[in-house]
Order: sequence, then structure tokens, then C-alpha cells
Amino acid sequence: MLPWPAPPLADDVVTLRPWRAEDQGAWLAAFADPTFQRFSDWEPDDLATREQRRLRGEQIQFALVDVADAVLGGASLYGFVEGRAGVGYWLVPGARGRGVATRAVTLLAHWAFDSLGVARLELTCGPDNVASQRVAERCGFTREGLMRAHLPFKGGRRDTVLFSLLPSD
Ligand SMILES: CC(C)(COP(=O)(O)OP(=O)(O)OC[C@H]1O[C@@H](n2cnc3c(N)ncnc32)[C@H](O)[C@@H]1OP(=O)(O)O)[C@@H](O)C(=O)NCCC(=O)NCCS
Repeated sequence: MLPWPAPPLADDVVTLRPWRAEDQGAWLAAFADPTFQRFSDWEPDDLATREQRRLRGEQIQFALVDVADAVLGGASLYGFVEGRAGVGYWLVPGARGRGVATRAVTLLAHWAFDSLGVARLELTCGPDNVASQRVAERCGFTREGLMRAHLPFKGGRRDTVLFSLLPSD
């Protein structure tokens, strides 16, 4: 079981909280965004599925919200194996260009290392996803290389750029 952070992860711009039923509209709208669609193959899931994955220790998904509790995006930790985990994130179009993803990934990385005992955090994205690679760089991740034909993606296969962050970084 992956616990919710207590107190919640937050800074003066973004708070990470559990998704709620009333967020479903914002969630589905985000999945329809062309930039999201271009870089992601995720299928929208429901609250119950997300909660089952958290209770099984597989994945924990957060809503990123502003001080007025408006949804700015989402972030997650997943793929917990042998002390490794992956970090994922996305923003609604109106929340991009303000450093929100950088802040959210930084908050999540510290929590993963300090509270979940993660020894290596991985961040992966498509070679053409420059904005996401810049998030990795701003958060201090090390680019480790390109995994060729790594993922099934939109009916074909996609290369993946691999970044990592260690507690000692
Ligand atoms: C990937 C994604 C989250 C990046 O969003 P982003 O807004 O570029 O990233 P951040 O929130 O970290 O903001 C950084 C930008 O804000 C600017 N910025 C403004 N104020 C800032 C601040 N206080 N701190 C940091 N950056 C700030 C930076 O200059 C940067 O812009 P630049 O890259 O043009 O220099 C977004 O493009 C997205 O949602 N894409 C679709 C989903 C996706 O691809 N997810 C990742 C899959 S691997």
C-alpha cells in the first residue's frame, strides 16, 4: 500500500492531493488535449481503479491543484520494483509555462526518496517531447540514453529517452 503524504505535498504554487469524483471533467478534458494526445498513449481510468493500484502498491496518482483548488494537471509515481520507481506528469494547457510541473516533480522526488525509500527515480519520455525533457533537466535528472523501439505506441513502437535521479544527486 502506498500511503498519502502527510502533510500533503505542497509549495506556494501547487498542492498534490488525491483525485476526487468532481475532478473527472478536468481529467477527461486533459486527455483530449492535442499535446497530451501527441505524447501520451494513456487511457483514462476511474477513481476506483486508481485506488486499487495505490492499495496494491503499484501506483499513486495525484491531482495538481492551485491555491483555489483548481486542477492544474496530474502527477504519479509508478512501477515500484527493486527500489526503483517512475514519475509521470501532465498539465492542462493553461497551466503550462509557469514551472508547475518542475515544482510537482521536485516535491514528489523528495517524498519518494525520504518517505518511500526509493533509491532511483526514473523519468521517461519520447525523443520529440522537448518540454518534458526540460522538466527532467530543471529537476536535476541525468539523461542516461535512448531506448530504441522501447514502447508500443499508437499502433507502432516509440523510442524512449531515459533520465534518472538519485537521492545523492
Ligand atoms: C510536459 C509538460 C508537463 C511540461 O510543461 P511546462 O509548462 O513546459 O513545464 P513546467 O511546468 O516545468 O514549466 C516550465 C516552463 O515554465 C517557465 N517558467 C515560468 N516561471 C517558472 C518558474 N517559476 N519555475 C520554472 N519554470 C518557470 C520556464 O521557463 C519553462 O518554459 P521553457 O521550457 O519554455 O523555458 C507539458 O508540456 C504537458 O503537459 N505536456 C503533455 C503531457 C506530457 O507530455 N507529459 C509528459 C509525458 S513524458
